[in-house]
Amino acid sequence: MTTNITICGGGNAAHTLAGLLSSWEDLSVSMYLPFGNEAEQWQTGIQLNDGITVNTPQKTIHGKPSAICRDPGAAVVDSQLVLLALPAFAHEPILKQIAPHIPPGAWVGALPARGGLDLCFKDVFKDRLAEIVIFGFQTLPWACRIQQYGKEVTILGTKVQVDLTAQPAHMAVTVSARLQELLGISINPIPNFLCLMLADTGQLIHPGIMYGLFHNWDGKPYDKHCLFYQAVDDEIASLLQQMSDEIQSLRSELQKSYPTLDLSAVRPLGEWLKRSYQANIIDGCTLKSSFATNQSYAGLLAPMQKTDAGFIPDFQARYLSEDVPYNLLVTRGVAELANVATPVIDQVLNWAQIHLGREYLVSGLLQGKDLINTRAPQRYGFVDINNFMQDMHYL
Ligand code: NAI
Repeated sequence: MTTNITICGGGNAAHTLAGLLSSWEDLSVSMYLPFGNEAEQWQTGIQLNDGITVNTPQKTIHGKPSAICRDPGAAVVDSQLVLLALPAFAHEPILKQIAPHIPPGAWVGALPARGGLDLCFKDVFKDRLAEIVIFGFQTLPWACRIQQYGKEVTILGTKVQVDLTAQPAHMAVTVSARLQELLGISINPIPNFLCLMLADTGQLIHPGIMYGLFHNWDGKPYDKHCLFYQAVDDEIASLLQQMSDEIQSLRSELQKSYPTLDLSAVRPLGEWLKRSYQANIIDGCTLKSSFATNQSYAGLLAPMQKTDAGFIPDFQARYLSEDVPYNLLVTRGVAELANVATPVIDQVLNWAQIHLGREYLVSGLLQGKDLINTRAPQRYGFVDINNFMQDMHYL
């Protein structure tokens, strides 16, 4: 029997998924592409190339999506599996477009999820949430880049293992097994979306290193494009450690208050680095050396723009514009509900919100006018930790 799949998005991740999934004979893949002229570009590309080619280090895979849609109804009406391959800021608008047309029983999820994806689903689907299965990947399984739009994409690297959670929670095992089979990657089911949120180390590493690199910037262009991960010095490593410790304190407090809550997947940063990169880290003695000698991070550059006078930091890059409102701020919101202080995280957020031109934290509380464009629990009206834990089905 054919499984109908919809992929929402037209970027690197969507190209990869489209090629991999439509190479299966018993899968029918529709692309939902309402953004700009992406639908037209895909239509032209897949006609000329007879589908999407995915280059992997080992082999080439080719598959052809069966439909390119601008209409949300046409894209999802028969779908059993809907994948959002989008930056987090696009989740809400796309979910609002497709939600009325999603059939009962469908599995709908995002890769990567980022923090608070389940809050967004609850807000958009309301009572209909009980009719579907939602899921989220901790991260995108691949580093991938489009070679030719609508035609060809290259997978540069594949993560050893990727965590996935679902709601209802018991479905995480089933969804992981099916997607593992279809995508040919190793997927590890974890207990709940709270775990997925707190365990996301991108929320520490990306805003933390941006702060470390640029909080003393005097406005003068740099002569050279700065490295990102390999620029982690003792001071930045100490900042990252303190941010990680604050999340571990939040984890401990939550586990004390809710002994049945499983947050074992929320690992300290150093442990996460070792587990994720293993042999790629040559010297794992300290946090600093784990960044400096991680071969997967070698040569990766900080988000900067080239100007006539030199290089300047790009404060609108996703390391801040996605990782702050859809990651670190969501975790900060849970800490506020749980009355756990996060002074170092606040220091980074207070700096980041100025450079993003946003107002989130005011007088130490998440009450700024731009909260509406975040997924912090406060944005959805949560003021009490017990209500939050129960309403979000974390217990
Ligand atoms: P991308 O920038 O290539 O694609 C983004 C797609 O999102 C666009 O093609 C468009 O279809 C859609 N989109 C953008 N703005 C929109 C809007 N306002 N409304 C509706 N749709 C909109 O992104 P990519 O590389 O596919 O990444 C997707 C997610 O995966 C991002 O969160 C990214 O940070 C993450 N990621 C990507 C990696 C990679 O190697 N490409 C690696 C790790 C994470």
